[in-house]
Amino acid sequence: MPIFATADEAAQAAANLFVEAAREAIEARGRFTVALSGGSTPRKMHALLASSPLIDQVRWSEVYVFFGDERYVDPTDPQSNELMARETLLSLVPIPAENIYAPYHPGGPDIAAKLYEETLRRFFTEEPPVLDLIYLGMGPDGHTASLFPGEPGVYELERLVIDARAPVNASERITMTPPLLNAARRVVFLVTGADKAPAVHRCIEAPENFDETPSQAIARYAQVTWLLDKAASADLKITDGL
Ligand code: 6PG
Repeated sequence: MPIFATADEAAQAAANLFVEAAREAIEARGRFTVALSGGSTPRKMHALLASSPLIDQVRWSEVYVFFGDERYVDPTDPQSNELMARETLLSLVPIPAENIYAPYHPGGPDIAAKLYEETLRRFFTEEPPVLDLIYLGMGPDGHTASLFPGEPGVYELERLVIDARAPVNASERITMTPPLLNAARRVVFLVTGADKAPAVHRCIEAPENFDETPSQAIARYAQVTWLLDKAASADLKITDGL
């Protein structure tokens, strides 16, 4: 993929990719399974998917939405990734409510993680489950989903979903793990902004160190597509072949 001049162009590419992946998956398997990422970067992509022309190019009744990670907060909390996705996309497109699988459960982050894993294992036939497309962002510290530097989650080899901790507000998290993330048919890293440039460089070009840059555990082992703007790619030595 090229490096995009702006975050808007990267978001457009991410939205176009959603439409194309959905068409291919539905044609091949009768459904499209996608995991959305949280934070703020996906908002632009969501807005494009929720408006013409793209909204009319997706068979939303065959789309099944999951979440790569979630803050352990009530889904009405402004920090909730589920709330952000509903407000910016899912409430604006004709996707059936039963096609949306969100991780939150009031029993606590450990119970929520265990139940979400059970949901995924019931929904998919493969071991580990194979989603068609997983969107991931990246923090300036090199985290992705809710796999944070210095935390054990990046080394998880058995569980598909775990409760995790973040060194920021909304510190209790639920996150998909590398075994699940790396099994996807395609993982898209949508990363924009100058503050991400050092992490993008470490993720792609620095020696492997999952403690320091957990996103390496996905970026170097999954079927990855990078959607970067110029600012986020500024520290990369090589951008050909991304
Ligand atoms: C979350 C996300 C997280 C996010 C990065 C980037 O729950 O916050 O899933 O992994 O993708 O922190 O966040 P921004 O897009 O807000 O920079």
